[in-house]
Amino acid sequence: MTKFNSSYNTYSMSDIEVKIQRLGHNIFSQCRKQTPSIFNKDWWSGKMLDLSMSNKNFKLQLFRFIDVFPSLTSNEDIRHHIQEYFNRDDLHLPATLKFGLLAMTEGITSSLALLALKKNIHHMAKLFISGQNIEEALPQLKNLWDSEISFTTDLLGEKALCEKEAENHLQQYLNLIEKLSLTSSAWKQSSQLETASWGKIPRCNISVKISSLNSQLDPLNFDESLIVLKTRLLKIFKKAQDHNCTVYLDMEHYELKDFTLALFKSLLEDKALSNFQEAGIVLQAYLKDTERDLLQLIEWGSSYQRKFYVRLVKGAYWDHETTIARLQNWPCPVFQKKEHSDANYEKLTNIILDHTNVIRPAFASHNIRSLAHAITQAHQRDLSPNSFELQMLWGMAEPIKKALCQMGYRVRDYVPIGDLVPGMAFLVRRLLENTSNESFLRQSFVDNEEASGLLRAPHFDE
Ligand code: 2OP
Repeated sequence: MTKFNSSYNTYSMSDIEVKIQRLGHNIFSQCRKQTPSIFNKDWWSGKMLDLSMSNKNFKLQLFRFIDVFPSLTSNEDIRHHIQEYFNRDDLHLPATLKFGLLAMTEGITSSLALLALKKNIHHMAKLFISGQNIEEALPQLKNLWDSEISFTTDLLGEKALCEKEAENHLQQYLNLIEKLSLTSSAWKQSSQLETASWGKIPRCNISVKISSLNSQLDPLNFDESLIVLKTRLLKIFKKAQDHNCTVYLDMEHYELKDFTLALFKSLLEDKALSNFQEAGIVLQAYLKDTERDLLQLIEWGSSYQRKFYVRLVKGAYWDHETTIARLQNWPCPVFQKKEHSDANYEKLTNIILDHTNVIRPAFASHNIRSLAHAITQAHQRDLSPNSFELQMLWGMAEPIKKALCQMGYRVRDYVPIGDLVPGMAFLVRRLLENTSNESFLRQSFVDNEEASGLLRAPHFDE
């Protein structure tokens, strides 16, 4: 045990805890030297997010507006919604913003102002979405690669509305794998990005949301949904096998969780994929079920002698899960306190690191404490730095990525491709994250003392 004697930290810590916090402070101090891109890239988005963080009512109205925005077809419609959402006294908007909003709804400059608004919203989306299509995204992916950051690409879209849309999505994924593997094969070699402790890892890496591949997906109609989705995903996995590409199944809402796990196992048990080593699944630490699911996956993987990736995330649908459970009077599947999700993330991290015979770990987080914990625990087990990877979202937390990349870790960005309409749900999740109390934007301006508070070990009970 080590006794910390600084004025703000006087409790005893285990040696590993000391190492975690030391690494955390080191990452914090490197991040302090840089400004996160969201604040310097774009004035309008920065201002809006800034205001949303300090004004809850405005945040609610802004996100409601952004959510409905792609479906508004005429200027009249947009004006009407601006009036309805923002012309309210309880928003306490700064005078300039109020004036700007009114200018959009009245007078001869209104159409021009609306045009500017549309541009601004598209610009905001561009902070988190790499391109409207593969062609637009490829140069961004190459830039990332050149800066020693890997990627996993996702084609935006969830909850396909009809089978035509689902089929179209499938074709787009097949096309993505072909184009990505062809183009990326010409890029420069990178031992940091391409060498793992178990061998060479593919440049090409995609993430799939299963709800975009079947409009009839219904976990209550388990068997039939499984047949349809397995058939479609087999095409994607086989294409990935032929083109040396990794495929992750993303984890979406809780109601799809058991189904997604069953589908993943069923795919890997298929003879056609018996040699495929490049499949991955995502687990969400905010779910109370996840520890049990992880242990079952490990048991299943050991009995089938399969190796696969696990991306550990906190979970992006917290508001949705809490609301649905409350409305339906169901027990809430997610931890209510943020600290409990953080504590669970660390518990799951340790389980994953204890089973690298089955799991290839990917720790996805923008939380410096969670990342420092994972790295230190891996080190403690004598795992080499390339036996796991760290994943973050494109357009977010750049200073952390840069710091970790310079320390020699493999960092992978989750990079979405698509336009605003299918991307809206994704964009709103990012805006919620960026303006939350736990956001990286808040972490990035803290001093040493505040950093110590953020780096403290999370517990299940206070
Ligand atoms: C999401 O779509 C990144 O998969 C995560 O919010």
